[in-house]
Amino acid sequence: MLPTTLTHDFIKGLPKAELHLHLEGTLEPELKLALAERNRVDIGQTTIEEVKRSYQFDSLSSFLQVYYPAMNVLQREEDFYQLAMAYLHKAREHNIRYVELFFDPQAHTSRGVAFETVINGYHWAVRESGALGVETALVMCFLRDMSAQSAADTLEQALAHRDKILGVGLDSDENGNPPGKFREVFHKARQAGLHLTMHCDIDQHNSIGNIRQALLDIQVDRLDHGTNIVEDPELVAYVRDRGIGLTCCPVSNGFVGDMKGNEILQLLRAGVKVTVNSDDPAYFQSYVSDDMFALAQNYPMTPAEMVQLARNSFDASWLSDDRKAAYQQEITDYVAGY
Ligand code: HPA
Ligand code: ZN
Repeated sequence: MLPTTLTHDFIKGLPKAELHLHLEGTLEPELKLALAERNRVDIGQTTIEEVKRSYQFDSLSSFLQVYYPAMNVLQREEDFYQLAMAYLHKAREHNIRYVELFFDPQAHTSRGVAFETVINGYHWAVRESGALGVETALVMCFLRDMSAQSAADTLEQALAHRDKILGVGLDSDENGNPPGKFREVFHKARQAGLHLTMHCDIDQHNSIGNIRQALLDIQVDRLDHGTNIVEDPELVAYVRDRGIGLTCCPVSNGFVGDMKGNEILQLLRAGVKVTVNSDDPAYFQSYVSDDMFALAQNYPMTPAEMVQLARNSFDASWLSDDRKAAYQQEITDYVAGY
């Protein structure tokens, strides 16, 4: 039965998918320090407190300035594997049954780590994830503040590993880097049979214009963040009618403004396949159940609406219809037995 009030326990046990999770954003301070020592990389901090104190950001760009330098500790295939496995243990704890894992190869190839090192390390974890009870897939993101040519070169490298990648995305600094910059590379990815998503971060310069471009021009299958879509009722109807998912991240949003809880609930109630995700859980110190609970604590919502968010997380995924139906049944069984 549905509980009368939403508890963290109910939310944690609810079967769910995570669709907006950057593997590089799961690097917890403990692992960061251990890898820094193992690979003899000076990250400027030597204690967990120092690492945590460096997590000061109030905008996307100030976040990215902390985020990218930390990746220097990732050097070898085992490092990428270990990072992903650490997250998958967390995922199991939060009853995340399926996750589409974002990763940023250019953040590593640009500092001399081979593409193969990155993809093989992450894929190693994907192969082992089933044994942990978490189904996984990899989604390769291009860095939008790098050139379109660099994205095209990265796609070329990825196509030699086509079987390891389910889709492509676009992240990093949106300012001055609209979706249209990557029209060709996304077109090529589509032709290769890859699913398409892209970040339309909150409250960007020309957010709604970028959302329109992503939907109508690039024809993405999903939007990451994208809550500014509420500014345009016609675009809201467009995503609702096509079942296009929005992967929202309330705690991450809260770091740079408000959680956008009103927008998330407005979209949910309008029938849009909106989902709740953790984005970069090690940096925002919030895994997906914590994000869902934070939403419920700060905005009035019902247990049935929380269950709908979990249902949307599978519906907006790139799983087969059979797998989606199996997970929907898990949700039905969980609620019936609660
Ligand atoms: N937006 C843009 N780039 C990112 C994000 C995000 O939410 N997380 C990690 N890289
Ligand atoms: Zn993100």
